[in-house]
Amino acid sequence: MATFGEFDAMRHAFALAAEPENRRGPNPRVGCVVIDSAGTVVGEGSHRGIGSPHAEVVALAAAGDAARGATAIVTLEPCSHTGTTGPCTQALIDAGVRRVVYAQTDPNPLAAGGAQVLADAGIDVEGDVLAHLAERINPEWTVAVTTDRPFVTLKIAATLDGRVAASDGSSQWISGPAARKYVHQLRSEADAVLVGTGTAIADNPSLNDRRSESSHQPRPVVLGRRDVPADSSLRSNPDTIWLRTNDLSEALTDLFEQGIRHVLVEGGPTIATALIEADLVDRLIWFVSPKLLGAGASAISQLGISSVDAVLEWTIGDVKTVGEDVCLVMSRKEYVPEQISEII
Ligand SMILES: NC(=O)c1ccc[n+]([C@@H]2O[C@H](COP(=O)([O-])OP(=O)(O)OC[C@H]3O[C@@H](n4cnc5c(N)ncnc54)[C@H](OP(=O)(O)O)[C@@H]3O)[C@@H](O)[C@H]2O)c1
Repeated sequence: MATFGEFDAMRHAFALAAEPENRRGPNPRVGCVVIDSAGTVVGEGSHRGIGSPHAEVVALAAAGDAARGATAIVTLEPCSHTGTTGPCTQALIDAGVRRVVYAQTDPNPLAAGGAQVLADAGIDVEGDVLAHLAERINPEWTVAVTTDRPFVTLKIAATLDGRVAASDGSSQWISGPAARKYVHQLRSEADAVLVGTGTAIADNPSLNDRRSESSHQPRPVVLGRRDVPADSSLRSNPDTIWLRTNDLSEALTDLFEQGIRHVLVEGGPTIATALIEADLVDRLIWFVSPKLLGAGASAISQLGISSVDAVLEWTIGDVKTVGEDVCLVMSRKEYVPEQISEII
């Protein structure tokens, strides 16, 4: 049974996992704290993304000899497989830790089974400690590795009457500058930003994060069969992924296989409707701008619903004003927190 000190250390490990620079990429966010028998922290660390050492390895290195006989507190079950780095189970065994406490059981079939390996080596192992919080550290990654497709965040910016473009086709800018800046932050937190060919042709977007402090650019993705003009920004970006299909499952599988675990969709009503209809939206971020158009494209078109009884309901997890706009963050089923500060 985990002690109070171990619960405290686990919360600290969550905070390490949630450091902003640990957010993206194909790997989960993981934090690890090594404590001695008096509960003193002797080493800590987090995983900084693919290719960098796992959290356990960083924390054990920081602990040095103090790891012998100590307890390792980890937010995710230690891996037992060799990927771009060696198995963490072996590092824990070699360091001589006495006990391992972890929160989330690894949902990734490739890496699971670490707890058994540790137990077989005579280490006292306890799992599922604060597991309900741990899954929320990595909602995008957890959905991705259990469904073999990226987590999908759909962003829509609409007027009060639900329009995303005027009747002349113009749509820039429905939302205000603060909301647009916020969208750039959302881009920086995703692995990829996707639009359909309709938006790529109509708006010639760049889909990059243009805030001065940005250090990461998501991969732009264009979905659809039509050609996009030769002089478009997306054509001149060598990182753009072109998915020449209308098959959403095929497209998402393709992105997953390219290491993308979280895609932000900024497409027009056609892509938005198709994703919602296919129940492929994990998080919906809807900006409502206090403006009226009265005509023009609706954010969502036909969903085949003819009665209120069949309405698609969403769970609101967060509502905030962003500049002059209102931002609603929603999920179809259980709300998926957007910010780690919401849970620790
Ligand atoms: N306010 C906002 O939030 C916002 C955001 C984005 C765009 N917009 C506006 O929306 C308008 C563009 O709307 P749009 O609906 O044409 O853009 P879109 O949804 O980005 O692109 C539509 C195209 O996606 C392709 N596609 C790929 N998979 C599909 C599927 N499963 N089902 C249907 N189509 C699929 C089709 O192209 P192919 O025929 O080439 O296969 C389709 O024509 C523009 O006026 C733009 O400014 C507004």
